[in-house]
Amino acid sequence: MSPDSIKRIGILTGGGDCPGLNAVIRAVAKTAMLQFRMEVFGIEDGFQGLIDNRVRRLSFRDVSGILTRGGTILGSNNRCDPRRYCTSTGPDGTPVFTDVTPTCLATIRENQLDAIIVIGGDGTMCCAAPLVEAGVNVIGIPKTIDNDLFGTEITFGFLTAVATATEALDRLHSTADSHHRVMVCEVMGRNAGWIALTAGVASGSDMILIPEIPFDDEAIGQFIRQRMESGPGFAIVVVAEGARSLGGAPVVARIDPTSPDPIRLGGIGQRVADSIGARTNAEVRTTVLGHVLRGGMPIAADRILATNFGYHAISILMEGASGRLVVREGNVFSDVDLLASAGRQRLVPTNHALITAARAVGTSFGDRLTRTEGRAGNSSVV
Ligand code: F6P
Repeated sequence: MSPDSIKRIGILTGGGDCPGLNAVIRAVAKTAMLQFRMEVFGIEDGFQGLIDNRVRRLSFRDVSGILTRGGTILGSNNRCDPRRYCTSTGPDGTPVFTDVTPTCLATIRENQLDAIIVIGGDGTMCCAAPLVEAGVNVIGIPKTIDNDLFGTEITFGFLTAVATATEALDRLHSTADSHHRVMVCEVMGRNAGWIALTAGVASGSDMILIPEIPFDDEAIGQFIRQRMESGPGFAIVVVAEGARSLGGAPVVARIDPTSPDPIRLGGIGQRVADSIGARTNAEVRTTVLGHVLRGGMPIAADRILATNFGYHAISILMEGASGRLVVREGNVFSDVDLLASAGRQRLVPTNHALITAARAVGTSFGDRLTRTEGRAGNSSVV
């Protein structure tokens, strides 16, 4: 489709929400309305809105005054995958899945949407893939507090989550010091430990446990004993929800069989706290930050990132791009093949420069390595 014929676009926010979604919606919609005189439509509750044909026209007023607002004015959903949509349950309660991609395509046709801006993480991009394959003009914008989307050095929402986690860890620091306790703080990060790593470094946490570096309970016990007995007498441990012990598995909180990604993690913080309690004389407390990290106002850096991503998405759309994911690499905005990025993750490299720097100042990663592994490459996380 020639860019000149793009007159009506839809915007969809999918997956778990995060700070900055409204800032992106605003940037996409205002650029489309002001620069290209397009009509902009909001698709409600992610892909569920495409299945139910819940599509509403957005006025300029709808997208004004939302830059700083948390959440998404369109609603979101991380339990709805059109490729595998739960339409009913069998007699034994087993979910029955159907591919409802044709229903989504019908909604797009019915609303005469010439293109769709899909704002989401890895799961959302996978859901968008069949639409791209069916010839829908889709541009993706990378969102997730976990910062683990393949192809981009940063996703919006991440920096706000890091700021929130850092503030919480700072607060735990003073109470840990007063009571001579070990404070274990669990943060989100299902497959990638970017939040734990960056907030851990920013707060000067003593130990950082991430999925990419399996931890050793004995090494943790030894490190904490040393800090309690011959160190400052308190410790801060930040642990990503997907962290696991050597040879162990992540701690699963619950399973939702009707969800395309049924496993919900949670509980590793308490599991680590119990292990420390059993191996030391320390008094240990656990805090789980969980969805607190996804809520609230985006910080300035995320508002700027969101505005750049939103503007860039419309720019490339009007240059004729289709099936692309807007990214930032080396601090430059560009785009990559959405289908090539979907389903892949950007994990923390174990020789990441920030890990090297953290080890250099005495931070433990719950393993037996205490010295740095020499100079590492790319350190860009912010
Ligand atoms: O993908 C972002 C994320 O915050 C993960 O870190 C976490 O496992 C998941 O969302 C939680 O999702 P839900 O909203 O289903 O609890």
